[in-house]
Amino acid sequence: MAKMWAGRTSGVTDGAADDFNSSIRFDCRLYREDIVGSMAHAAMLAAQGILSQQDANALIDGLQGILDDLDSGALSFDWTAEDIHMFVEQVLTERLGEVGKKLHTARSRNDQVALDMRLHLRHASDAIAEQLRGLIAAIVAVAEENKSAVMPGYTHLQRAQPILFSHHILAYAMMFLRDLDRLADCRRRIDVSPIGACALAGTTYDTDRQMEAKLLGFSAVARNSIDAVSDRDFCVELLSALSLVMMHLSRLSEELILWTSWEFRFVTLSDAFTTGSSIMPQKKNSDMAELARGKTGRVYGDLMALLTMLKGLPLAYDKDMQEDKEAVFDALDTVTMCLNVFTPMLQSMRVNAEAMYHAAQSGFINATDLADYLVRKGLPFRSAYKIAGELVGECIRSGCVLETLPLETYRRHCERIDEDVFAAIDLLTCVRTRISEGGTSPESVENQIAYVKEQIK
Ligand code: ARG
Repeated sequence: MAKMWAGRTSGVTDGAADDFNSSIRFDCRLYREDIVGSMAHAAMLAAQGILSQQDANALIDGLQGILDDLDSGALSFDWTAEDIHMFVEQVLTERLGEVGKKLHTARSRNDQVALDMRLHLRHASDAIAEQLRGLIAAIVAVAEENKSAVMPGYTHLQRAQPILFSHHILAYAMMFLRDLDRLADCRRRIDVSPIGACALAGTTYDTDRQMEAKLLGFSAVARNSIDAVSDRDFCVELLSALSLVMMHLSRLSEELILWTSWEFRFVTLSDAFTTGSSIMPQKKNSDMAELARGKTGRVYGDLMALLTMLKGLPLAYDKDMQEDKEAVFDALDTVTMCLNVFTPMLQSMRVNAEAMYHAAQSGFINATDLADYLVRKGLPFRSAYKIAGELVGECIRSGCVLETLPLETYRRHCERIDEDVFAAIDLLTCVRTRISEGGTSPESVENQIAYVKEQIK
């Protein structure tokens, strides 16, 4: 069949070229946005007297019929169509005859596709924000249910200082809150209407871009028609925000993978979110976390594909830009899938406070507290630090811990040390006394919980 645009050429194209050119396989996902956008367009054309009200009504009814039929499955996509825009117009014309051919007045696929993407991403980013709020709520619940569990905090993956597990897990809530903020910021720039820019230069018809934007719920209208059809910054920004979501998920994943190992046993995942081995009968693997960690690369790849596709593209529309969709959709799907398993996985996760406490008891993670104790006894920090280090050395040589090192040994290193040292280096004391703002003390953790809850209300 000859193409809709036959005229300048015969419109008879090679089959391989058709397949190569066609985007309906993936842009069919935009059918609702495409149809809703066309309805607003028809309404605007009538309001401006460019089309008769009767024609516009016929178009709007016809479009509604196509939408209903696609929703119900009564109408299926024609996979040989060039793209979703051509498909909808083609069905409309088949159903309505001549009047269907009037829809594309004062419009181009260039502003149409930009509109469809913005409508789609406005909704998709809201949906991901909602999922993120759910994830953050699950993290806060884990923190609240395990408020007092003490674990070793790590630097360089070496035991460093005692912390509350709730404090540690809330660090992730802070990351995901920033992700929410980034999504909201990005949404402001998605929420700008490109429609009415037409192919690139605007139009000779007396259109009302403000009206069309308003009908579609946009907060603003793109100010330069060339930019309106060329801009995909909003896609890049969204994928950048999603890349950070994945980066955060991958860090949490890595910790869950470590924590579920026999070496740590800090947490136990519900059977519902683990897998077994085909050969080793004893295995319980944290596949969901591993997959989320692995899929992070995929979303970064989508971002890189987009940035590279746009690099050096001359204004205005170029067909290269059709490549935006698969990258954006893949990133959205990936993040959505990950969040879909992560939230219930955290909700059903068990925290093993004893294993954490046990780990906190070795590794001399109260050595800083010993130094701080000596500072309170009047030593300069650097001298206190040195003595504490020597005492750790004594422990290692004699196979004990700071809590069991005899007082005489302490006093041999520093006479100012008294019996009260043992209370000072008790793990619970170490945690309770880290009262600085944002620190690991229970009051600080309470404040953090209240803050996060307030943010996701
Ligand atoms: N399928 C195209 C895309 O996704 C729609 C815009 C086509 N515009 C054009 N001038 N060929 O980018």
